[in-house]
Amino acid sequence: MKGIIFRGLEELVVKTHDITVWEKLMEKHAPAERVYVSAKNYPDDELFALAQEVAVVVDKPLSDILRTFGEFLFAYLTQKHGEILVQFEDFSSLIMGIDTVIHAEVAKLYHEPNLPQIHCEKIDERNILMFYRSNRKLCFCAEGLINGAASYYQMNISIDHQKCMHEGEQECTLLLTFEEKEHGKIN
Ligand code: HEM
Ligand code: ZN
Repeated sequence: MKGIIFRGLEELVVKTHDITVWEKLMEKHAPAERVYVSAKNYPDDELFALAQEVAVVVDKPLSDILRTFGEFLFAYLTQKHGEILVQFEDFSSLIMGIDTVIHAEVAKLYHEPNLPQIHCEKIDERNILMFYRSNRKLCFCAEGLINGAASYYQMNISIDHQKCMHEGEQECTLLLTFEEKEHGKIN
């Protein structure tokens, strides 16, 4: 996993807790003197151990932590890569472009990234069916990233995680149902 993902987790932990909490996590789960460089690769297990420990600290299931992390990560990644968002006019086109535009761009910018396979089918104006496959099985993180994108475009969204690799499936299937938020309405 790229250092930029670890740095995103660090920023989230520091924002929601403080730097000493992050330092304790690092002491327990990373080699001494570890410094995450955005473009470098680090072991996936190190990220999983850190995320698992965050789950213990806040006493929530790992899936919830990964969703929260994913949502934060969307803002973090798009802030670091300002050129990405200008290419999309709305939520739907961003989702349809994750694999062919966003991650294709990532594959040019980063050396040997480990990206998931994401394939989307547009059903109609309000529904997209997403297929996710990766041996890292970070589908809950994907849910969070999708929520992050929805909040950026001010969309109401629900995600129906119909099939899941964590339940022995070959790939995850996520049905995204969305609509623009009505102005002035509090959700
Ligand atoms: C990795 C999904 C948008 C850059 C990942 C991963 C997931 C994911 C689930 C974890 C790796 C895995 O599952 O195997 C998504 C979704 C997005 C999205 C659903 C939008 C809703 C973005 C954006 C960027 C980005 C906007 C901006 C540059 C990356 C990078 C990695 C990554 C750098 C790490 C690759 C590595 O560690 O080698 N993405 N992503 N993604 N994504 Fe995305
Ligand atoms: Zn899944």
